[in-house]
This record gives sequence, C-alpha cells and structure tokens, in this order.
Amino acid sequence: MKHLISLKDWSAEEILGVLALAAKVKARPDKYRKALRQKTLLMIFEKPSLRTRLSFEIGMTQLGGHAIYYDMSTSPMSGGKETIEDSIKVMSRMCDIVMARLFRHEDILEMAEYATIPVINALTDEGHPCQILADLQTIQEKKGTLKGLKLAYLGDGFNNVTHSLMQGCTKLGIHISVGSPEEQMPAVEVTELCSQFAQESGCELVVTDDPVEAIKDADIVYTDSWMSYHIPKDEEAARVKLFTPYQVNAALMKNAKPDAIFMNCLPALRGAEQTAEVIDGPQSVVFDEAENRLHAQKAVMLTLCGAV
Ligand code: CP
Ligand code: NVA
Repeated sequence: MKHLISLKDWSAEEILGVLALAAKVKARPDKYRKALRQKTLLMIFEKPSLRTRLSFEIGMTQLGGHAIYYDMSTSPMSGGKETIEDSIKVMSRMCDIVMARLFRHEDILEMAEYATIPVINALTDEGHPCQILADLQTIQEKKGTLKGLKLAYLGDGFNNVTHSLMQGCTKLGIHISVGSPEEQMPAVEVTELCSQFAQESGCELVVTDDPVEAIKDADIVYTDSWMSYHIPKDEEAARVKLFTPYQVNAALMKNAKPDAIFMNCLPALRGAEQTAEVIDGPQSVVFDEAENRLHAQKAVMLTLCGAV
C-alpha cells in the first residue's frame, strides 16, 4: 500500500485497517504526537478547499511533522514550464509524503507513477478517497457496524464523491443505491467494477433514476453538491432543474429508515442538494463527518509513511 489514489486499489482489509487506526488516533491523539516527527507533507492545491486543507495541515502538526501548502497556479507545472514527472521527482527528493487536489485524474496517476514517496489523492474530478474513509469512520461510529447496512446516494451520480463511495461501500459489503438522473449516472467503468466488488463482498449495488427507490429503507442518506468545483457556472441553471427531483428533503427522507443518518461531505448549499431542515435536523451528522477527515487522514499518513 504505497499510495492512496483510489479505493479500488485498496483491499477491504487495508481499508478496515486504516479505519481501526483512525479510531485509535481519535481516541488517543497524544500517543501519536511524535509519530511523524521531522517529516514533511507537501499539499498541492489546484482547486479550493476548507476541510481538506485544514485536516491535512493540522493532522501533520498533531503528528509532529510539518506541512507545506503549495498553490498549483504558482508552480512551474502551471503553464507547462515544468512537467509533472520532473516536478514530482524533485518533490520526492525533499518531502516525505505528498497530497494533491487536482482537476485531471490522469495527473495524479502520473504523479504516483514517478513519485518515490507516497502520493495521496485529495480529490480529482474522478474520485475523493480521503472523504470516503472519513465517511466510513463516521458510519461505523454512528451505526456500530458497516457490512450489511444500506447507503443511498441522491443527486449527481457522475461525481467524484459518488464514485469513491461506490468503491468504498462495495469493497466493504455495504449495500449502495445511487439515485441520479439518466444524464448524470455514474461512470460506466466505475459501475462495472463496483458490481464485481459487490459480488465479492456480498452486497447489492443499484443505480436508478428513481429517488424513492434509491432511498427506500436506507440506513445512511448521502448527498453532495450539484455544483462541484470543476463544473462551469453556466451549467448551474440546467443542473438545478435536472437534480431538483433528487433533493434530500423531509418528504424524501420519510422513505429511509426512521433512524437513518444524513451525510454530506460539505460544502453544502441549503435549498439545493438538501433542505435546511434536513442538514440542520437531528438526523444530520455532517459536522462529525467533517471532523473525521482529520482523524482518518492522520491514519492514512501514518500508514503510508510506515509509522505504525
Ligand atoms: N469535503 C471536502 O473535501 O471539503 P473541502 O473541499 O472544503 O476540502
Ligand atoms: N463533488 C464535490 C466534492 C467537494 C468536496 C466537488 O468536486 O466539488
């Protein structure tokens, strides 16, 4: 386990191992205060962030190391002055671990190919594995288990968080139903691969354009922004129209189990992918979910740096 690029590359045991460590790190942060002493994390950002930036930078501080924020637009990689290959080779000579939030998934694959240090995908247009590790930690805390639960995802199916959720759930035997309009279904290759994972782990993967079918009897209801960072502003009106039938509101939530939890990776827009009454209501766990980014990513860095 050298990199974290996509959860499809990790075994169920590896995912569960990081979750177990994340729980330990959360319970006893003091025990890991020097675990990454003298280590440096490079954080490359091509897109905005609140949670990812804070959780990685604070996580590294809490583990005794140092983190450098590096804005992609100020790097020689921007504008083609220096290749990704040369850049990551140089980074590998000085840093101990690198995370990158990029547009193109191919770019993080290229970084991982030429890096001699661990590379973490901190979101690309195609996936957001760090988010899903924190989500799984949150589900485990709230429900006491993972395997056999049902997660319903409503909204944009052709989406990084959706793809990573499909991978994480089907690896661990969590039933997952994605309710999305026909035009925005998850990528075919992700659905195909996750169907195989679902068979292996003994769970069901359903992709449907019927929001009520998707959410029926769910233990976890999940949604994400209709306007991801990479979506152009001029698509907003059409997307609002397309996704409105999938908005998570009180009426739709009634179809989930009465004790279902509501999740959103954040940032969230009230009145769009969910209503205020849902995200601010008693079933919402979105801030526990956000906090767990810190604990889960500390576990990822400890694992990839071989510090545990
Ligand atoms: N959920 C998440 O990754 O948030 P940020 O975009 O604020 O990092
Ligand atoms: N799908 C969202 C996730 C944000 C954390 C985006 O890419 O903007």
